[in-house]
Amino acid sequence: MFYEIAKNDHGLRYNPLKACVVPRPIGWITTVNAAGIVNAAPFSFFQLLSYDPPFVMFSAGMHEVDGGKKDTVTNVEATGEFVYNMATWTQKDQMNTTALIVERGVDELAAAGLETEPSRLVAPPRIKGSLVQFECRLHQIMTLPSTKSGADHHLVFGEVVAVHIDDGILTADGRVDVLKARPIARLGYKDYACVDAIFQMEKRMPEDQRR
Ligand SMILES: Cc1cc2nc3c(=O)[nH]c(=O)nc-3n(C[C@H](O)[C@H](O)[C@H](O)COP(=O)(O)O)c2cc1C
Repeated sequence: MFYEIAKNDHGLRYNPLKACVVPRPIGWITTVNAAGIVNAAPFSFFQLLSYDPPFVMFSAGMHEVDGGKKDTVTNVEATGEFVYNMATWTQKDQMNTTALIVERGVDELAAAGLETEPSRLVAPPRIKGSLVQFECRLHQIMTLPSTKSGADHHLVFGEVVAVHIDDGILTADGRVDVLKARPIARLGYKDYACVDAIFQMEKRMPEDQRR
């Protein structure tokens, strides 16, 4: 099948777009507002973008109720900091609860029954029980235009300045054991994936480039 985005003529009962780029990792982002109240929200438009130094990015649409910026974006603009928390199978329901729209200024972590741990280099706390967390400083916010006026996406780029990894998911030979962590990821529709199987492949190189 083929369809043009401008015509949206896919003819399917459900829009297939988000099911076409999968799985999308979930950036479970914690921020604080200017008064220090903690906010948490999941973003599946999220990715690690670079390695040295590491940068991450998440993309936020507009607030579903009032059409303004999402609290996460407002908080990052105000403080210049955020934390990425890995969302895993054991905290999937709490993660989902933090996506609920609650009044601005409400501590969404407490509302989801989650506890926090302090970060070391930035003010937003980490989500206790999340097995990997990145402390991030804002690099840049970019705006992607929308076809609907006032519905732009804000792309928040942050530099990772510190990394926490739970010792329990480190192997004896010094790797992160993803099968122990069981991160969850977003698919299309209401679907999610959980990393429960992995496979390995050797990096292939032409004979003359091998050392
Ligand atoms: C798994 C999951 C992924 C989500 N991904 C995004 C996303 O990439 N961008 C976005 O704007 N909203 C996304 N949402 C919705 C936000 O989490 C939701 O709007 C949240 O209330 C925003 O919170 P805030 O206003 O406190 O920032 C997602 C929700 C879920 C459950």
